[in-house]
Amino acid sequence: MQNTQNALFLNHKHADFTLGLALSLKLGDGEILVKIRAAALNPVDWKIQKWGFLVEEYPAVLGSDVAGDVVAVGTVSLGLLLETDFGSSLPYPDYSAFQEYCKLKEDFSAKIPSALSYEQASTFPCALLAAYQGLYNDASLLSNYHHCLPQTHAEKLKSLGATHIIDRTILLDSIHTRLVEIIGSGVKYIFDAVSEPETQKATYDLLSPGGKLALVLPVHVPMDSEEKIVSFTIGYPDAAHNRVCVKTMYSGIEALIEEGTLKPSNIEIVPGGLGVIVENLQRLENNQVSGVKLIIRPSDN
Ligand SMILES: NC(=O)c1ccc[n+]([C@@H]2O[C@H](COP(=O)([O-])OP(=O)(O)OC[C@H]3O[C@@H](n4cnc5c(N)ncnc54)[C@H](OP(=O)(O)O)[C@@H]3O)[C@@H](O)[C@H]2O)c1
Repeated sequence: MQNTQNALFLNHKHADFTLGLALSLKLGDGEILVKIRAAALNPVDWKIQKWGFLVEEYPAVLGSDVAGDVVAVGTVSLGLLLETDFGSSLPYPDYSAFQEYCKLKEDFSAKIPSALSYEQASTFPCALLAAYQGLYNDASLLSNYHHCLPQTHAEKLKSLGATHIIDRTILLDSIHTRLVEIIGSGVKYIFDAVSEPETQKATYDLLSPGGKLALVLPVHVPMDSEEKIVSFTIGYPDAAHNRVCVKTMYSGIEALIEEGTLKPSNIEIVPGGLGVIVENLQRLENNQVSGVKLIIRPSDN
């Protein structure tokens, strides 16, 4: 790696994003240096900038999903040089995706299966981690799900295993009636993968006494009820209660992709490198993207 690299900075909370130069990165034990070939954009990136939450260290570099080439390893690293890896970023500048190189913790990264492109591999970390945390760690929900999802993607969703699809454009109030038609009783486990204030209220109301609700955005419903258990799932690998679980997930991820249990999201590759991130986060914020993950290649000009 050269002495400096291009990066997209957020210099303080709520600042505009600006392109600049970051210094070269020093590796610690168990860390790998990755030349980033693909980085996925996520809704959380514009939310961190607009809402000023989750990130405390500024100037910040954002981006949660990394895929690339391992170009150096830390002293007691087990990683193989020149392997291709993908992995979860951390909310510190050196470990984030919107730059040309970043560090990853070996425990939170995996080899890219040969059938996947860098771009496909970069669709996994953030979304998979949030789902995994919510289903198996925070609320220990079951993965035998009925889904309330957009009808527009019905065929794709069924091919991925969705058993029932309720068009999300129906009134939230009528979802209860539809669910009772499908499952015949109260709902014990809900993963609200949208978690806007109105879906939180609807899912909380739907929950049976004794039920569990996992949310993926800051909570707007009571968390102190003895009747209904609500958890805020954060796909943040380095939190003390997440580390073991995330390491376990990464140890099995390559095999799960190879056997077809985990499939990459559909992608739209956006040319133009770091310079096009801001306009494409705007597309996410404006709800102009549906059914695909936007991918940039940080070294594109
Ligand atoms: N806590 C965490 O660690 C974590 C991690 C990742 C994501 N998140 C959060 O989780 C949410 C989803 O993230 P994502 O990456 O999956 O976003 P995404 O790729 O933009 O997908 C959002 C999906 O939700 C659908 N949707 C939007 N509003 C809905 C509603 N009212 N009812 C049902 N479906 C609705 C969209 O449908 P259309 O395509 O039809 O618009 C789209 O398919 C975001 O709020 C994100 O910030 C949290």
